[in-house]
Amino acid sequence: MGTWAAPGRVTVIGEHTDYNEGYALPIALPMVVRCTARSRTDGRVRVGSRQRPDQPALVAISDLATLRMRVPRWMRYPLGVVAEFTRRGFAMSGVDLELDGEVPIGAGLASSAALSCAVAVALRDLFAGDVPDRALIDIARAAENDYVGVPTGLLDQAAAILCTAGHALLLDIREFASDEPGRHGKGYEHIPFDLERFGLELLVVDTKQPHELVDGRYAARRDECAAAAAALGVTSLREVESSADVDRIAEEVLRRRARHVVTENQRVSAVVDTLRAGGDPRGIGSILTAGHASLRDDFEVSTPGVDTVVEAVMAAGAHGARMVGGGFGGSVVAVVDCARTEFVEESVRRRLAGEALPDPHVFTVVAAPGARPIV
Ligand code: GLA
Repeated sequence: MGTWAAPGRVTVIGEHTDYNEGYALPIALPMVVRCTARSRTDGRVRVGSRQRPDQPALVAISDLATLRMRVPRWMRYPLGVVAEFTRRGFAMSGVDLELDGEVPIGAGLASSAALSCAVAVALRDLFAGDVPDRALIDIARAAENDYVGVPTGLLDQAAAILCTAGHALLLDIREFASDEPGRHGKGYEHIPFDLERFGLELLVVDTKQPHELVDGRYAARRDECAAAAAALGVTSLREVESSADVDRIAEEVLRRRARHVVTENQRVSAVVDTLRAGGDPRGIGSILTAGHASLRDDFEVSTPGVDTVVEAVMAAGAHGARMVGGGFGGSVVAVVDCARTEFVEESVRRRLAGEALPDPHVFTVVAAPGARPIV
């Protein structure tokens, strides 16, 4: 028995690049999902959640594969992880999973990956000690892709498992996902990320405008990216290095989708170069804001309410701001001078109130550690 924790994430830069084999740069949030796990001997799994006290479940592990769509959506994450371990041949005698956490739900901060990764690290320690991190990330992602039915990339799960305190995680998904040993490196690197030293803070504004990836718009973007890659005759948009190549795509929408991915990969590299050189991170602000414009105009995953938040924080003196995560609502992240944080927060609240939009949840974050045992 024990308790394990896994964090949510904010992407500093690198959105909708993961399923295009590109680059991404997330940090882990200080907010986590906790999983207290205890093995059972009756072949059943019990799942309870402090946030949903009315809905515990007790099901036979052997029934998991057929149960899928008949359990509440949130519960498919933990059950999906159990099912995936079992599918991969790890014998489980049964388990109790008690969940609790404070990663905002539906805010684009990867609360689902925090949930599945907290369960995955717990199950590894209880039943499958030798599963490497790389496989654990795949297990958590498979739960989301196959059991919940959202075709996400592996950004969120990789961030939840691999991030370390004080660092952003540079992911090179093509290398990370490669099965060819020796050809590629391990595909990730920890990049020091300390804004405080420069008198800066990372401010997150959860717009409370719900974000939901199961309605098909996320999947549609994936399909468009695959179609754009096919139009260029490459296996993934990662293979396209120059934005000029994108102009060869005849279809206008696909051309814009591809342009976002190609320029977003370039933005990740530019941000990492600045951070690696130990330069003033104020310099990454304009790159973040350019990333937002690209998600808004070329990838079309922002919303007017999210755009309003970006405009408001910039007008209040933020150095840069962008939407976070899959899009269609959710959160905005901004780089702000510590001395201005309160002013920025007040300005956003005033602006949203003036437009009759929901009062946001505003908080600052530092780069926190990835999944770990806590008790
Ligand atoms: C969601 C998905 C990730 C990634 C982001 C966009 O968070 O789960 O795999 O695609 O959207 O960067």
